[in-house]
Amino acid sequence: MDAVRIGIVGIGNMGGAHAYNLARDAVPSLTLAALCDNDPEKAAFCAERYPTVPFFSDYRDLLSSRSVDAVLIAVPHRLHAEMAIAALEAGLHVLVEKPVDIRVSVARRLNEAAEKSGKIFGIMFNQRTNPLFQKARELVASGALGRLKRSVWIITNWYRTQAYYDSGSWRATWAGEGGGVLMNQAPHQLDLWQWICGMPSSVTAFCDVGKYHDIEVEDDVTVFARYPDGATGTFITTTGEYPGTNRLEIVGECGKLVLENGLLKHWRLAESEKEARFSSSESSPSLPYIYEETKEQESGGHVGILESFADAILLGKPLLAPGCEGIRELSISNAAYLSAWTGKEVSLPLDEDAFDALLDEKMRHSSFGKNTATEAPTEQYKRRWQVNW
Ligand SMILES: NC(=O)c1ccc[n+]([C@@H]2O[C@H](COP(=O)([O-])OP(=O)(O)OC[C@H]3O[C@@H](n4cnc5c(N)ncnc54)[C@H](O)[C@@H]3O)[C@@H](O)[C@H]2O)c1
Repeated sequence: MDAVRIGIVGIGNMGGAHAYNLARDAVPSLTLAALCDNDPEKAAFCAERYPTVPFFSDYRDLLSSRSVDAVLIAVPHRLHAEMAIAALEAGLHVLVEKPVDIRVSVARRLNEAAEKSGKIFGIMFNQRTNPLFQKARELVASGALGRLKRSVWIITNWYRTQAYYDSGSWRATWAGEGGGVLMNQAPHQLDLWQWICGMPSSVTAFCDVGKYHDIEVEDDVTVFARYPDGATGTFITTTGEYPGTNRLEIVGECGKLVLENGLLKHWRLAESEKEARFSSSESSPSLPYIYEETKEQESGGHVGILESFADAILLGKPLLAPGCEGIRELSISNAAYLSAWTGKEVSLPLDEDAFDALLDEKMRHSSFGKNTATEAPTEQYKRRWQVNW
């Protein structure tokens, strides 16, 4: 096989941009072989724009059509796992949009299905392609910072207006989307946070519902995390601030990293701070360090993840973003909700039954379905989907 035949399910904002890119051969190892959407307007759009690509209005017909080797799932998050499991069971490779789904319990079932299928299962964590985050991860993993003490991520430049929230019927509703900024915008950074700093052992969070918008889900969040080795972390995100900030600071016994404005700053201490703390005779010494800066280089973005997916299928290369890792950031966001709903610190692994029962309750009272708006498909990757400093 020279190229993987891929079908896209969901030709909206994201799926429309993927279709456009694949149709113009941005990834030669992937051939756009099918399109699927259950909205008749999207059917008309695809018939006009991609007349030679087979179109399906039911994804199950696409899965059994034998026209594809793989599917890219770009529908509302709550449908991701259901469709991904069906695709894997149909013998197809799967690339799922983020977040992997809205519940850890369901993501776990998807991971089991992927393991059983032996197929390639990837997730569109396109910000993992950014070289600065890759370098930060390497530095932490190599021990350059020593034992981590603290991380703080302020990611408040996900600014959204009311018009955005009103633009799609499923958006910003518990039943349609399973959450707000934590479930829609922040999965990229929650994933990078755990990718670089590891998984916390417990989470305490404040999730303020409709603080800046007329929505039933949260648009302002502060998460406090504890890690097994005693480190702590804070993650702050909102869609209601302008101008926003994107700043990640990671501090360890041997130095500090700051990622901001397309720059990775690294303060490398000559010796561990802990040594000086107990051996220095001064009360507040200046400790020697080497300072290094790395500037952001071009990153692969969504196309980089598509290429990695194709390389995994065709060449057996490891995925940059394995789908089975989607459960990690989802565990943090599910735990944050559970903490906000109960007012308690939540340990990980998550109590999935407790979370599911409370989410079910919110879904029962959700306004999902009252708004019938749909958006026209997008044809370009939007700037806001890339790493935005
Ligand atoms: N990786 C990124 O940078 C990024 C950016 C934007 C969106 N996303 C993700 O992509 C997914 C879709 O988001 P969007 O903004 O494109 O939403 P959207 O509403 O614009 O598009 C979703 C599409 O799915 C279709 N759909 C819904 N149910 C379906 C079904 N049962 N069968 C077939 N089609 C169905 C809808 O008709 C619509 O066309 C979300 O999970 C979102 O988080 C990822």
